[in-house]
Amino acid sequence: MSSKNFFKTLEKEVARIDAASVTKRKEHLIEGFTKEASPKAIINGKYYRIFNSNDYLGLRHHRKLKKAEHQMTELCGTGPGAVRFISGSFKVHRDLEKALADFHGQDDAMVFSSAFATNLAVLFSLIKGQSKDSLLESKALVISDELNHRSIIDGIRLANLPSDQKAIFKHLDPKSLEEILEKNVKKFKRALVITDGVFSMLGEYQDLKKLRRIISRYDKQYPEGVLLVVDDCHGVAAFGKTGRGTEEISGARADVMVGTLGKGLGADGGYVAANQAIIDYLRESAATYIYSNSISPGTAAAALMAVQLIDTQTGAKLLKSLADNLTFIKKELLKIGFQFAAESIHPIQAILIGDTAKTKALTQKMFERGFIVTNINYPVVPKGKDEIRVQISASHNKTDLKAFLQNIKEVGEELGII
Ligand SMILES: Cc1ncc(COP(=O)(O)O)c(C=O)c1O
Repeated sequence: MSSKNFFKTLEKEVARIDAASVTKRKEHLIEGFTKEASPKAIINGKYYRIFNSNDYLGLRHHRKLKKAEHQMTELCGTGPGAVRFISGSFKVHRDLEKALADFHGQDDAMVFSSAFATNLAVLFSLIKGQSKDSLLESKALVISDELNHRSIIDGIRLANLPSDQKAIFKHLDPKSLEEILEKNVKKFKRALVITDGVFSMLGEYQDLKKLRRIISRYDKQYPEGVLLVVDDCHGVAAFGKTGRGTEEISGARADVMVGTLGKGLGADGGYVAANQAIIDYLRESAATYIYSNSISPGTAAAALMAVQLIDTQTGAKLLKSLADNLTFIKKELLKIGFQFAAESIHPIQAILIGDTAKTKALTQKMFERGFIVTNINYPVVPKGKDEIRVQISASHNKTDLKAFLQNIKEVGEELGII
């Protein structure tokens, strides 16, 4: 009887979530993709152009990634078979780590099952020692941008810090970071500043140069310095002339770079790149690396191919197509009469609708016309800031973009949005 009561509570909780309009579980099930240069998703036998994918360069359908994955799977099997330190480390994992380290100009890198898992372990390990024998003092101050990704928030939560050891700086506000660092001089051994590179709700980016200037000033005032940790999951392979992401756009480096293999790089998994001291320590301490399977060898081979491809002419062409598509769609959306919820130079473009019912209706009507976009509504965003999030890819061709613009114009007019 008692567990029945628990299940009833769970049902009520799900009903509460549904009533609050933040339901996530009613997903579209994609059955496959058409075999075109600009692939369409197949859902219930119908074709859809996807305008809400993180596959910014279209690499997940690239023949070279698929071939690399197939060949490695033939050679090594479909799964890693064990965690890394038992018998789950493959040469391709290490090759990928070396390629990622080179790509970011760092000494070394480590691959995890996801960027979420990376953030959990990296943040916990840099904040705290793993055992009572650890030489790492836990007197670290952690300073996080107020709109950081959930995986960062949870990584900090794991460390279970007292409130005086955690601080939140105002979103994209270096002055606010400076005030916190100033206030805490002499109180802590070291400070960790943690931020998303690109913020995925609106496509804004953190200007790392501005943060770096402040960090350099305070580095000597904390005995173990001030470390800049950047999660650039949406920046890498999407942003910057060579796809180096927010570092490239803002002209400054992170000390610790967290990325995903599952967005612009077209594969799956997460990684951290940093200097040798940090990576050696993390290989000994990051729980989701040590006690959880890594990605399969085939996935690692696909990701390795993606990292290699970015620095070739093919990569440069894809990055250029992405930039051209972005310029075109932004200009045309403004011409049609839409407004953006924020200024973004990233392939994430948030169209401001400002009305919950109209935002949902627009998403639904676009779906009926064969286009998938994401609606982001109150209470996820403040009242009156409801938006349609559109994500542009290098795999969209001019026909896709023009069809999208024509349809969103017609739907926008029908709903009285423009
Ligand atoms: C900023 C940021 N960090 C981490 C993640 C998690 O990435 P992954 O899917 O590799 O776990 C995401 C994905 O949504 C993200 O946007």
